[in-house]
Amino acid sequence: MTDVLRSETLVHCADAPDAPWWRHAVIYQIYPRSWADSNADGIGDLPGITERLPYLRDLGVDAVWLSPFYVSPQADAGYDVADYRDIDPIFGTLADAEQLVTSAHDLGLRVIVDLVPNHTSDEHAWFRAALAAEPGSRERARYLFRDGRGDRGEEPPNNWTSVFGGPAWEPVDDGRTGETGTQQWYLHLFDPKQPDLDWTNPEVRREFEDILRFWLDRGVDGFRVDVAHGLVKADGLPDWTGPQQMLGDLDGSAHPGQPGHQPGEAPMWDQDGVHEIYREWRTVLEEYAVPGADRDRILCAEAWVDDPERAARYVRPDEMHQAFNFDFLQSPWRAPDLRGVVEESLGANDEVGAPTSWVMSNHDVVRHASRLGLPVGTPRPNGIGIGDPQPDPGLGWQRARAATALMLALPGSSYLYQGEELGLPDHVQMPDEVRQDPTWERSGHTERGRDGARVPMPWEGGRAAYGFGPSGDVWLPQPDDYGPLAVDQQDGVPGSTLELYRTLLRLRRELGLGRGSLSWLGGYADAVVAFVNGGPGEARTPVGVVANLGSESVRLPEGAEVLVASGDLADGAVPTDVTVWVRLSGMAIEPAAS
Ligand code: BGC
Repeated sequence: MTDVLRSETLVHCADAPDAPWWRHAVIYQIYPRSWADSNADGIGDLPGITERLPYLRDLGVDAVWLSPFYVSPQADAGYDVADYRDIDPIFGTLADAEQLVTSAHDLGLRVIVDLVPNHTSDEHAWFRAALAAEPGSRERARYLFRDGRGDRGEEPPNNWTSVFGGPAWEPVDDGRTGETGTQQWYLHLFDPKQPDLDWTNPEVRREFEDILRFWLDRGVDGFRVDVAHGLVKADGLPDWTGPQQMLGDLDGSAHPGQPGHQPGEAPMWDQDGVHEIYREWRTVLEEYAVPGADRDRILCAEAWVDDPERAARYVRPDEMHQAFNFDFLQSPWRAPDLRGVVEESLGANDEVGAPTSWVMSNHDVVRHASRLGLPVGTPRPNGIGIGDPQPDPGLGWQRARAATALMLALPGSSYLYQGEELGLPDHVQMPDEVRQDPTWERSGHTERGRDGARVPMPWEGGRAAYGFGPSGDVWLPQPDDYGPLAVDQQDGVPGSTLELYRTLLRLRRELGLGRGSLSWLGGYADAVVAFVNGGPGEARTPVGVVANLGSESVRLPEGAEVLVASGDLADGAVPTDVTVWVRLSGMAIEPAAS
């Protein structure tokens, strides 16, 4: 390669230098149950989080997103909310939440909270009132109660299944009958303890606008919106025989072009009506923005939808700010797939003027350090346990580092999931008897579910519970391989995953990669993802990124200065499953000949 680099067509233009924070922020997801336990009950809590926030400032992220900490019977680890305006005692108090927000802001970190609008807990005051009230009452009209089918209503109102397994309807066992004189049922797309709200009801809409204001008044910087694509159901709740998974495309059938795929047709997902809700919410948030002070408050959609175009509909200029890029998370570890998803996502979001929000791991999926240790092309498992095909830990670790180095060089925003900066794998040998995800029971023990990704953080390798809390208790067991990966074992150790993340995040910030342009870098084999972030018209030197997914080592552009590498280079070349960032100073970058 010479010192003139060939760059293919520009895929994405640079953002303005003063673009608002959320267009390029790195946001770190804290799963409060498993971050840090301050009161020795084996469950993480808000004071534990506040105490450890300096760790996140030093890591170099811009914001935190907290999974739910509201009052909840914890039937789905807090995604079953009984009171949206208070904190569950296992996590602390409202004063603890306010302290957390203040401390985070003092450290320069923004705080995003989780909003769960598709369903409440069955222990929410509204649902209790609904059960106590007559069929057809105002109380029942906040949820989706329907009469059953069959002579006495003994069959559910339709054939929908719950995301966690089994039917999506629960009979109301109170002996009272509905309009047609038959048994009533209520809809729960998730657990029976998570009844779905009826978003056609204006009272539900007003309530959630009020909840938004409650938290905005407490200074939060935004909301991650749970199941954002599920709130509105098709009129008449028609039967559906197509794919209905939500937490990903586990068997690939939800992908465009696959047999059985019917984009946008599943009557419980991605209905057009959801967008009107987010337009209303955007106007509420706009009231709280401080113009010119980079103080926008944001909405981020958790929307498992069919393709980048459908996802981009959630981030049109008057709707949400961000939507998780689950296509990126689900991409096989193959260069053409990754290039395809990067290009399509940037294209679809650019079309509506929104940033792309990259993500590799969260509390609902097998961590990428384990996922990428499975043979390429394996459908993404819903949890891994004893007796399941096991990932190759070394391979997963190596690829996870390369994948993150690739992700953090992409323009847009990125989400990190707690512990991925340590290279944590899932607990893939967790005994089934300790599992708590409702998926395991409801699927009749066919889907292990998400517990393996939710194990408490290891802070100190030599202490009980790896320093998670003062008692040594943990609500889910930690695997032995978490000891050597604990924060104190990696802190300051050159080449550790923690130090790699710190370096990537520092360089990303210094170089403004989140705001850069992206062009593919030509001259590399198909098995390499190679691109340039930055270019003519941008103030700083362009950065080249080479991620080698092929079996042969590849050369770096001649004269390029290595900034950071996810693994050791072999004689200056990039080995298999390594990503390298290089400074392309003094090199002319020419568009490819057309
Ligand atoms: C959350 C899950 C939760 C589900 C139901 C999701 O997408 O991320 O953890 O089980 O919504 O609230």
